[in-house]
Amino acid sequence: MSKVYEMSHPLIQHKLSILRDKNTGAKEFREVAKEISMLMAYEVTRDLPLEEVEIETPVCKAMTKVIAGRKLGIVPILRAGLGMVDGFLSLLPAAKVGHVGLYRDPETLEPVEYYCKLPTDVTERELIIVDPMLATGGSAIATIDLIKRKGVTQIKLACLIGCPEGVKAVQEAHPDVDIYIASIDEKLNDHAYIVPGLGDAGDRLYGTK
Ligand code: PRP
Ligand code: URA
Repeated sequence: MSKVYEMSHPLIQHKLSILRDKNTGAKEFREVAKEISMLMAYEVTRDLPLEEVEIETPVCKAMTKVIAGRKLGIVPILRAGLGMVDGFLSLLPAAKVGHVGLYRDPETLEPVEYYCKLPTDVTERELIIVDPMLATGGSAIATIDLIKRKGVTQIKLACLIGCPEGVKAVQEAHPDVDIYIASIDEKLNDHAYIVPGLGDAGDRLYGTK
């Protein structure tokens, strides 16, 4: 079974409260979503392998550690996932970015795919899927299905807010994908919105409602 890392760091929790507040406007929402994503990138990359290299400090030669060249990719689920990309890229500037377009059909709540563009060397990369919301889990599961069909084997999922239902669904469908999440909230409501959540992440980011 995959691991679930809930990030209790005070900075993340404080900034999440700003996102949850319905009075936070789109400009501030985007800025804070980026800041939280940057903090999450620090945790998501905690297991990157290191190797020793010899360098020369102003004092002497020394063996020191650098990241052992693992190739990374960031895959936002459009549209709301875009709000997490810049935060991740600011810590991982060499990562490539692939895009998967899905929206949740408001009637069936099933994810509908409309776009997919991944780096050409995607099978050589560890991919971090980013999406602020993990509600039913349908969008994340469909994205992981799609990426696995392209031959990718190393996948992580990073979300700002989830709920027990979504976490369970992803774990059952993809037990090899670890989940990094800033908060696992109480539940889903009858419209499959996360409670208390932050509302519709895409609309909050882009001011479309
Ligand atoms: C939101 C969110 C996730 C999805 C989560 O996207 O960004 O992708 O819902 O719900 P699920 O876990 O039940 O699939 P939405 O479908 O609203 O599209 P948008 O990002 O284009 O607004
Ligand atoms: N998508 C969102 O943007 N918010 C939710 O609470 C659930 C799905």
